[in-house]
Formats: sequence, C-alpha cells, structure tokens
Amino acid sequence: MTVRAVTVIGAGQMGRGIAQTLLQYGFAVTLYDIHEAAVARGVATIAEAFRRQVGKGRIAEEQKEEWLARLAATTELTAAEDSEIVIEAAPEQLETKLALFQALDRICPSQTILASNTSSISITAIAAVTDRADRVIGMHFMNPVPVMPLVEVIRGLRTSDDTFAKVADLAVQLGKAPVEVRDYPGFVSNRLLMPMINEAIYAVYEGVAEPEAIDQVMKLGMNHPMGPLALADLIGLDTCLAIMETLHEGFGDSKYRPCPLLRQYVQAGWLGRKSGKGFFQYE
Ligand code: CAA
Repeated sequence: MTVRAVTVIGAGQMGRGIAQTLLQYGFAVTLYDIHEAAVARGVATIAEAFRRQVGKGRIAEEQKEEWLARLAATTELTAAEDSEIVIEAAPEQLETKLALFQALDRICPSQTILASNTSSISITAIAAVTDRADRVIGMHFMNPVPVMPLVEVIRGLRTSDDTFAKVADLAVQLGKAPVEVRDYPGFVSNRLLMPMINEAIYAVYEGVAEPEAIDQVMKLGMNHPMGPLALADLIGLDTCLAIMETLHEGFGDSKYRPCPLLRQYVQAGWLGRKSGKGFFQYE
C-alpha cells in the first residue's frame, strides 16, 4: 500500500482512535491538538493500545515500533500543510469547527480534502467558511474507532462526487464500511441513537428505574452490546448534549429537547468515562 499522509485534528478519544486506525493501515499520521498535554496523552494512549496488541500476541514488537514511527504529534496547525486529507475531530462546538476550517483552508493546498468527524454539525455550514466547499465532507467514525466498522460519509450540499469517492475509498482502506448520508441534523446515526439515549436519561430523571436496570432492559431484551446509559458515558455526556441541541435547533421539534438531567450532569462536570463519573462510576 502507498503510504499517504493524513492530519488528524484533535487528540481526544475520537481523534486518537482515528489516528490509531490510520497507523495500523499504513498511513503516516500527524496528530494535532491545541493543548500540549492533550497531544501527549493522545500519543501515550495510542502507544498503550499497540502495547496491548503486542501483549495479546497479535503483533510483533517491531510492528508496534513501525506503526509508532509513522506518528508525528504537534500543536502547530501549519503541520497540516503536507497532508492529502485532514480529518477534524475537535469538540462538537460550531465556532471551534468554523475557526479550524477557515484556518485549514488557508494552510492546506487547494487539492487537500478537509473532512470533519462531526457527529451532528452541518457539513454544508462548515464548508461555507472555506473556498473549497466541493472538497469538504463528513467522515463520521463510531466509538471505539478501532473496533466499529461503520463510517458515515456525509455529503454537504456542495461536496463533489470525486471527494465523496476518495473518502469512501479511504474508509474501505481502513477496513471500514462507508455509508452515504446527506447533510441533515444528526445525519442517520445520531438522529436515531441520540433520542434513544435521551429517553433513557428521561427514564432516570422520572424515576422509572435505576440506571443499571434501564441498561439491563436494552442489553438483555434487545441484544444491544451495551445499555444506552453506559453508551452515553462512553460517548461523553457533553457530546450527547451538544448533539441533542443540534437536533432540537435543526428540526425545531420539541421531541428532541435535551433531558434536564443530562444538562445538569454536564454542568456538574459529570461527563461519563472521560471524567470518571457519568451515569456510572469509573476507576
Ligand atoms: N478502544 C479500542 N478497542 C476497544 C475499546 C476501546 N475503547 N473497547 C473495547 N475494545 C476492543 C477490545 O480490545 C476487544 O478487542 P479484541 O477482541 O481484539 O481483544 C474488543 O473491542 C471487544 O472488547 P470487550 O471484549 O472488552 O468488550 P465487548 O465485547 O463488550 O465490546 C464494545 C466492547 C465494542 C465497546 C461493545 O460493547 C459495543 O459495540 N458497544 C456499542 C458501541 C457503540 O454503539 N458505538 C457507537 C457509539 S455512537 C458514536 O460513536 C457516534 C457518535 O457520534 C456519538
């Protein structure tokens, strides 16, 4: 396989997962984050994931070293200038994404594809702040990225067929199944998943059942691999809230109103696994 260069923006759990997957499939990866500590944590987490694979006897030590040798870490956005594609996985805040895409549009050569891993923000709106709306696209990975086979490929109103084909092909090269989706709030994945999670939180809020019981119902009764509350903790409750707000605002329909308990947990800093507490306790 020809090694190609990809920059991943954001070293949070999605960014790291995307970077890890790219490395495993032969790509050279530049991992960017605005915070030095976040980049260091991202690199350490990826290295740990590779060490675990060595420990399980899946890969040789040399393979791990070869994968890590293709990883560069940076806090300078200009490092993206040599990449053929940039995959942005920054927090789900519109202003953050618009500022990043404006900057990337200035930094990267005109042929570079700018993809966003956004879980619900409009690709069309992100594309509109650049001078390359035809080369802006959604590339939405699922968490945990190295394990989940889906990539939702979202076409903004002005995304070209060529950009779509290249990104769908990249997903296939990463061992994933691309699914084509148009640009409406929450796309398909979160339009269906997030109202279920929000409703599970309403069930806690209204005292219908304990979190453990709610998750048991969906695991044992519906064969879900994990319950909606454990899944919310995995995704991050701040991200869940941001997605519900995007659905609520985008469709203007009260059925998407975020549960007040979700909002309160986020205000308290209970963000799920990443903060050590959400609907369940971690560590
Ligand atoms: N990172 C990397 N690998 C992980 C992982 C993680 N966070 N968690 C588990 N894995 C790997 C394990 O190492 C293991 O790999 P091997 O089989 O190669 O050893 C494999 O996944 C299975 O793990 P476990 O046996 O520990 O646990 P499990 O069988 O219960 O699977 C799970 C864990 C894959 C997370 C499973 O519970 C699951 O599929 N849950 C649902 C996940 C889901 O719905 N994700 C989508 C979220 S929505 C989203 O991401 C989009 C959005 O915009 C919000």
